Amino acid sequence: MNNKLTKLIKYYSLINHNLIFSNKSINRYNQIQPKIQKDKSENLQRLRENINEIKNCKLKENASNLVFSDGNPNSKVMIVGEGPGANEDKEGLPFVGRAGQLLDKMLHAINLSRKNVYITNVVNYRPPENRKPTEKEVERYLPYLKKHIEIIKPQIILLLGSTAMNAILQDADVISKMRGKWYEIEINKCKLSSIVSFHPAYLLRQPEQKKFSWIDLKMIRDKLNKLK
Ligand code: URA
Repeated sequence: MNNKLTKLIKYYSLINHNLIFSNKSINRYNQIQPKIQKDKSENLQRLRENINEIKNCKLKENASNLVFSDGNPNSKVMIVGEGPGANEDKEGLPFVGRAGQLLDKMLHAINLSRKNVYITNVVNYRPPENRKPTEKEVERYLPYLKKHIEIIKPQIILLLGSTAMNAILQDADVISKMRGKWYEIEINKCKLSSIVSFHPAYLLRQPEQKKFSWIDLKMIRDKLNKLK
């Protein structure tokens, strides 16, 4: 195949959103559990218990399950969403509904999966009627999220949507201006590179924005390749 043709195919696969994040289903189940250092798993367990002990919280009172995390605690990449939806509340796992299926496809597009990323949310209980968590609720759960980041010690953090962006990045602008750039940040003495991208639920409503999220994903892929 000549060079021009290869470039053209690459270009078309880049701009054609139907090809980006393909429709092939991905089996996330029956995965072998990763080996985690004892202190890391103990710290995660303690954090989960601390969140479980939260009192006087409307989110918790209305939810069925605590949604703590999914994925590999040893991963270099941590993904932070907004908060659980109905499916996540039912299963006790983040991103298992339609947005989660798209997230899996997005990860797959850069050769990642739940085997090598770690996923959590800003709030760990489902906001009623899938509303956005309030500022007060975000403030209340932020120390737990920061502790979560401190325990996982990722090198890269992907903030999906404006709730995660505003929780972690100070003085953030609108997401369309913030995405596609690296922000070097420090959380609980943990230095990491953060990047903002559109939330998969938003991409389901606005599929033409997938081309921007593809750019962000490739930035993560390139950074990971440099870290290797
Ligand atoms: N949206 C989120 O932000 N998190 C989930 O876990 C599911 C949907």
